[in-house]
Amino acid sequence: MEKTLQGKVLDEERTIRDRIRKNVSDFFELKRRDSKFTPIKDRIRYSGPVYDEKEVTQMMERILDGWFGVSSYSDEFEKNFSKIFGVSSSVLTNSGSSANLLAVSALCSNQVPNRLKPGDEVITPACTFSTTFNPIVQNSLTPVLLDVQPGTYNINPEQLREAFSRKTRAIMLPHTLGNPNDMDAVMDFVKEHDLFLVEDVADALGSSFGGKKLGSFGNFGTFSFYASHQITLGEGGAVAVRDKRFEPIIRSLRNWGRGEGPFDDDWTKGTIIEGYDNRYLYVTIGYNLKPLEFQAAMGLEQLKRIDGFIKIRKKNFNALLEFFSSYEDQFILPESLPKADPCWFGFPLTLKKEAKFKRKDFLDWLEKHNIETRLLFAGNIIRHPAYREVVYRKVGNLENSDYNLKNSFFIGVYPGIDSERLNFMVDTLKKFLDKFN
Ligand SMILES: Cc1ncc(COP(=O)(O)O)c(C=O)c1O
Repeated sequence: MEKTLQGKVLDEERTIRDRIRKNVSDFFELKRRDSKFTPIKDRIRYSGPVYDEKEVTQMMERILDGWFGVSSYSDEFEKNFSKIFGVSSSVLTNSGSSANLLAVSALCSNQVPNRLKPGDEVITPACTFSTTFNPIVQNSLTPVLLDVQPGTYNINPEQLREAFSRKTRAIMLPHTLGNPNDMDAVMDFVKEHDLFLVEDVADALGSSFGGKKLGSFGNFGTFSFYASHQITLGEGGAVAVRDKRFEPIIRSLRNWGRGEGPFDDDWTKGTIIEGYDNRYLYVTIGYNLKPLEFQAAMGLEQLKRIDGFIKIRKKNFNALLEFFSSYEDQFILPESLPKADPCWFGFPLTLKKEAKFKRKDFLDWLEKHNIETRLLFAGNIIRHPAYREVVYRKVGNLENSDYNLKNSFFIGVYPGIDSERLNFMVDTLKKFLDKFN
């Protein structure tokens, strides 16, 4: 039977899509053939995206579909992600920073009966990332800063008691560079004082404590899928929600503030707004922090790779730990708790007071050999110019955070570092360090 014009167009579309898929596949095949590492010429990044034709094909297909807003691929990503992380639901966002903003804003939302109010206190470490800290200030809450411990770069939970006041309502807790906090002590404190807990898991996807995945302890776990993180959507993030009642609030705040799913009808009953089109009915004071559908399509492929990615990060971390154990006279080495199973974001080091060289000399040497490094985020956030006028409290003098600001850094462990690159890293490190032995 003769095909209709529409049928012919569909056939042609299929053929063109096949050609595109083949071209994408050929492109990555060529890249794989040409992937030989040339020391010094090729940069060893501290982290980066690891993907191939599977991700790119999925993204291309979604772009060709012509539907960009969050839809079925985003739904599927959220479902799979929640299952992996053992939370009741999760909401995709356009970044980890947005995930943090949504989590803290949700705790302040008019939809939460015991919500946080301006001036309420949130305990958080001083050695942190900007957008872990910022949502506290952006929501007119008062940060209470704790120092971090050498080697773990996490808070000392014993200091939570010192930080506590009658205004304390929440803890904003990053697992620094993927290293799990002492969740037994933190959860005891949270329960004792009926606090909200947001875990910033941006750097810690795949880490667990006592066999339980990070991000599933707190009211919210916030994740980043920026290109350097354990999995990537290019940019992106998610809020993992433990208590299902919070999901429509997070979703509403993400989607301009409109009514998403069930919300309290009493809010509109008998008012002029009763029965109004949900798409333009606003129940929270929201933002637009949505990702794009093709990012979710990339994410679905990345989720399939998680176990492999985690394994390589752990392997690279352990190899570096073994190497640096010969140089403990110069460095404070990374440490984790006995119940922790970290999937490290990077390999952190801090120069000891008695080290025989300066951080700058060491980082310059690595840079000269095209090995990338990063500083430990803010060091002490409150030392940065943006925060000069921020009102805060602190416990102690934050001396370790100040020390980190001047003496800490990290190098890469990501899956793009294969054995050739790792060997070159180790040789280069050794050449520098052996000058001081
Ligand atoms: C601990 C922490 N929180 C939040 C973020 C922000 O994530 P994003 O870059 O996706 O906004 C980062 C970024 O690396 C981070 O390290």
